[in-house]
Amino acid sequence: MIDRLIQNNLAWSINRQKGDPDYFRRLAAQQSPEFLWIGCADSRVPANEIVGLDPGELFVHRNIANLAIPTDINFLSVLAFAVNALKVRHIIVCGHYVCGGIRATLTREKHGIVDHWLEPVREVQRKHAERLEAIGNPEDRVNALCEYNVIRQVGNVAATVTVRDAWERGQDLAIHGWIYGLSDGLVRDLDVTVTGPAGADRP
Ligand code: CO
Repeated sequence: MIDRLIQNNLAWSINRQKGDPDYFRRLAAQQSPEFLWIGCADSRVPANEIVGLDPGELFVHRNIANLAIPTDINFLSVLAFAVNALKVRHIIVCGHYVCGGIRATLTREKHGIVDHWLEPVREVQRKHAERLEAIGNPEDRVNALCEYNVIRQVGNVAATVTVRDAWERGQDLAIHGWIYGLSDGLVRDLDVTVTGPAGADRP
């Protein structure tokens, strides 16, 4: 089973170099992506693939429920490198509907360690409790929380020292909130883009 992956890789590498023998040499020398992707670890949301970008074009950070938590050194390091060294122009927080992580926060079941990780989602849930409880269909409620969560994470990214410093320097940097539909393969823009400190107040 696992050998299939190595075989796939060999075929992929050969295919990539067809008609462009320098492809990997060029990539190895430099990466200059314009986009940072913050997405869910879910295997059904392959970042590069769904937005049609090649290796070298998208800097990617993924975790359960696409969180951008101000105390997460992994996220903060990725963000700082993307903004300060790579000088990305766009940061995309992309959630997805039917997210298992988001769904887990809406049940009383215990899931172990991940319950600690998902505590910030519970905070979003508490903030929007009234509106969420008004939604009768449980699936629609999960999906609404998926959207609220993306909006909160956009606010979290905008509130970081890294992003505020970049804006203060006059660096061009936009933060977008998107959500991806597993059932149709389409990305929806949640229209919460922030491009400067004025629009970056926590939602
Ligand atoms: Co997910």
